[in-house]
Amino acid sequence: MPLVTMRQLLDEAAKGGYGVGAFNVNNMEQIQSIMEAARETKSPVIIQASRGARSYSQDRFLYHLMIAATEVYPEIPVALHLDHGNSPETCKSAIEMGFTSVMMDGSLMPDGKTPSTYEYNVKATREVVEMAHAKGVTVEGEIGVLGGIEDGHGAGVDALAHVTDPAQAAEFARATGIDALAIAIGTSHGAYKFTRKPTGDILKMDVLIEIHRQLPATHLVMHGSSSVPKDLQDIINQYGGKLRPTWGVPVEEIQLGIRNGVRKINVDTDNRLAITGAIRKVFAEKPEEFDPRSYLKPAREAMKKVVAQRMTQFGQAGHAGDYAPLSLQEMAARYR
Ligand code: G3H
Ligand code: 13P
Ligand code: ZN
Repeated sequence: MPLVTMRQLLDEAAKGGYGVGAFNVNNMEQIQSIMEAARETKSPVIIQASRGARSYSQDRFLYHLMIAATEVYPEIPVALHLDHGNSPETCKSAIEMGFTSVMMDGSLMPDGKTPSTYEYNVKATREVVEMAHAKGVTVEGEIGVLGGIEDGHGAGVDALAHVTDPAQAAEFARATGIDALAIAIGTSHGAYKFTRKPTGDILKMDVLIEIHRQLPATHLVMHGSSSVPKDLQDIINQYGGKLRPTWGVPVEEIQLGIRNGVRKINVDTDNRLAITGAIRKVFAEKPEEFDPRSYLKPAREAMKKVVAQRMTQFGQAGHAGDYAPLSLQEMAARYR
């Protein structure tokens, strides 16, 4: 089937009461890992690319790899989403390239670092909604600012400094007409989210629940949602890596989120950890190897295992065949 829109995937997820993982990719092996996991678990899936990923893959390679994914796995509904678009121009170029969904992250200025004003965020996001919906493309917005900056997105501030205000979130959703809303609840991108297992004082699930209470019909998005499992950290460190002790977002908290309106869960770091651990293991155990396939195959397998586990935990497993895809034209007509 052709690429589907994220809006359709999330509407279906809301009907079924489950969440959908949005996994970041940069190359062929990561796309293959996700598609294999989706086939094994019969899951609809969101594949997302950051600006860095688009530049790394020169955009066209990424696009054609995604078309290959739809040909090789025709039974899997897959949306191609732009992660953290920094400006309306970036979103426009993604739409022209064939993305079926874009994120306009107007919580930050176009530099991707400086927190913006509410007025700027509404204006930039509204502009993208008008442009995208005319073509049937889905839009995710963000209100509140994620912590951390190590992976290129975020204000470089304490993750609790810009937690989303529920009343402002409700006003923002109405003012912009977005399809999905990313919120800040104390998470950050990358491996170093928390220095201990998070409790309610540092992971604000109460804020998420209140946002859902005020915005029951809006699909909520959790960014920075890698769980940073200890076993993946251990493999890296066992084979010469140097990760400091760290905690991510426990899967049970994500599942609580899913029961409270979360439909899209962003995961990148866990897959990076799985890939790196698998490659380090081959390098340490078989130093004589130099065929890239000898380490990329185990890396692909390790990422697939993590993705399949998340698909099952988020509840999307088993839902790939639930519905027929709507075209961009049909989605555009619905928005009109
Ligand atoms: O939002 C952060 C994602 O993990 C993508 O990271 O900008 O390094 O590709 P990236
Ligand atoms: P992680 O770094 O927790 O995987 O978050 C990824 C993300 O939010 C991408 O937008
Ligand atoms: Zn993010």
